[in-house]
Amino acid sequence: MELIAKYHVETDLPIKKAAEAIAAEQSTGTWTAVRGADNPLAARVISAEGTDVEIGFPEELFEPGNVPQYLSVVAGNLFGLGSLKKVRLQDVIFPEGLVRAHKGPRFGIEDTRKILGVHDRPLIGTIVKPKVGLDPAGTAAVAAAAVRGGLDLVKDDETLTNQSFCPLIPRLEAVMSALEKVEKETGKKAFYAVNVTTGADQILERAEVAVDHGANMVMIDVLTAGFSALEVLSQHVKVPVHVHRTMHGAFTRDKGHGISMVFISKLVRMTGGTNLHTGSYMGKMALGTEENDLSRDALREVWSGYKRVFPVASGGIYPAKVYGNLDGYGIDCIVQAGGGVHGHPDGTEAGARAMVQAVEAWQKQIPLKEYAKDHKELERALCFWGS
Ligand code: 3PG
Ligand code: MG
Repeated sequence: MELIAKYHVETDLPIKKAAEAIAAEQSTGTWTAVRGADNPLAARVISAEGTDVEIGFPEELFEPGNVPQYLSVVAGNLFGLGSLKKVRLQDVIFPEGLVRAHKGPRFGIEDTRKILGVHDRPLIGTIVKPKVGLDPAGTAAVAAAAVRGGLDLVKDDETLTNQSFCPLIPRLEAVMSALEKVEKETGKKAFYAVNVTTGADQILERAEVAVDHGANMVMIDVLTAGFSALEVLSQHVKVPVHVHRTMHGAFTRDKGHGISMVFISKLVRMTGGTNLHTGSYMGKMALGTEENDLSRDALREVWSGYKRVFPVASGGIYPAKVYGNLDGYGIDCIVQAGGGVHGHPDGTEAGARAMVQAVEAWQKQIPLKEYAKDHKELERALCFWGS
């Protein structure tokens, strides 16, 4: 069996030569012929046409279970080869042996829905804002207001971990006790994704301590912490894992060079994420509708025995942007807004209600402006940010 990697390659070399250079560099060869390179671990060029290259890597080249090693092969030295002007890893088809070496998510879409008791609509989340600067009590107050307004998930921002102005355990305890109070008052359950991202020597302990202190979801910045850090969390920590992709733009943004989001999505599903930020169809981040579709499908389509993962639309979303994102992602997604909730002219709770109303409008397929006529928080949001 082979692993098949698909690349976009821009080069002055004949494309076949460039493909051969990639196959050699990433398997048994180097810049010059060496004795013994023609061994069973040599990769082969499957096709090389225009700018499209497909390489087949023998399965034995890979150490099952070792994602960093897979990356060194399919996404390694080739990016720096001087003979290639640009190269982008577009997709990888994994052989079943490597797929089976990973358990995938411990908690998938269905598990998360069961915990919340929400089965018939997209989930709605928020990122606490300001992203840094609040203390534990301030964070808890914002979180409670968001859930009182009807949101299902509150998360830390990607740069907040365990700094002295808002240490993780006091923050977690304050937020969980505020959410418990809201649940007692209203019956509304919600997740708080506490960001446990840290170095390899501490991340598991940090997450386990968080769960001991009541965390019902943990969050990781997967591209800065690493896929193996995510895998260790999903295998050992008994709560769902929310996955943020901060830093992705450094290699996903250039459509000619780097690594595609669909490949990141596949790795996150293999290594056990429950929710993954995949980009929005309308929002503040650079957009790639087609790649959103591919990432969405990689997370949710049948793939071996892996559970399904929620794509998360996040970044510059506010009520008027909800429709377009839900048209793209459908019901099995999480739509999230930070500024689009907390920046509402009437505050966080009203901002949360406006997001809920926008999702309701989409579900009923009623134009937002019409739905806003008897939903005042939505109406205020549309007036404030535009519709
Ligand atoms: C995120 O982490 O997804 C962003 O902080 C989103 O924030 P925004 O909704 O204010 O753009
Ligand atoms: Mg953020």
